[in-house]
Amino acid sequence: MTLQEIPSQSFRERSIPVLETARLVLRAPRLGDAKTVASLANDRRIAENTARIPHPYRLADAEDFIATANLGGEAVFLIALRNGAVIGACGFTQVDRHPPEIGYWLGVKHWGKGYATEAVRAMIDHAFTDLDCEALQSSARVTNPASRRVLEKCGFQWTGAGLLRIRAISSSAPIDRFRLDRGLWASLKSWGNAKRVA
Ligand SMILES: CC(C)(COP(=O)(O)OP(=O)(O)OC[C@H]1O[C@@H](n2cnc3c(N)ncnc32)[C@H](O)[C@@H]1OP(=O)(O)O)[C@@H](O)C(=O)NCCC(=O)NCCS
Repeated sequence: MTLQEIPSQSFRERSIPVLETARLVLRAPRLGDAKTVASLANDRRIAENTARIPHPYRLADAEDFIATANLGGEAVFLIALRNGAVIGACGFTQVDRHPPEIGYWLGVKHWGKGYATEAVRAMIDHAFTDLDCEALQSSARVTNPASRRVLEKCGFQWTGAGLLRIRAISSSAPIDRFRLDRGLWASLKSWGNAKRVA
């Protein structure tokens, strides 16, 4: 059975794993993270590039986000450094039988260090290795080249344009849509560098 065939409440039934990368730990949010999440997410540059994050983003928003995370149709991780400091969040959302949609954000002071790419790659590997996904999708506002670049670095392919409702601007905005199929992911994973032998 593929993830697309699993009813949406199945994320609730699965325990959210801890995913480790060279510099990061991805783990389920806990209520004690609310203050940190609120201070990281309370930035218009984050809200305006994500569908659901409000602005301003208050402690109550973080508490609500954490209390309702992983209750169905989604898998939500906080992104932390190896020393435990939380720097952002990421996850999959699944609607109906469409491929799970990946989303992510980082506190602004953590931008530009490759953390988003590292976190998204960990989620991708988890989706294809542990969850038997056949494909993943994502999107980025056309005004958000950093997010587009993260997706491209992770192997996502552009599939078309669209509109997405952005809560923080109370409006819809143009987006580019992207998709990563299992076959391309497997190919990228197996593509080792050529070694010079002479
Ligand atoms: C998008 C976001 C997660 C990127 O995080 P990050 O850790 O800085 O990303 P990375 O460092 O892994 O990669 C960013 C890439 O974009 C590039 N980039 C950044 N700003 C850019 C710009 N204005 N134009 C072109 N490329 C840009 C970087 O150079 C880097 O590419 P490189 O490694 O080839 O040099 C972060 O900016 C963010 O949280 N934004 C707000 C929320 C958001 O947009 N979420 C995504 C929507 S789902």
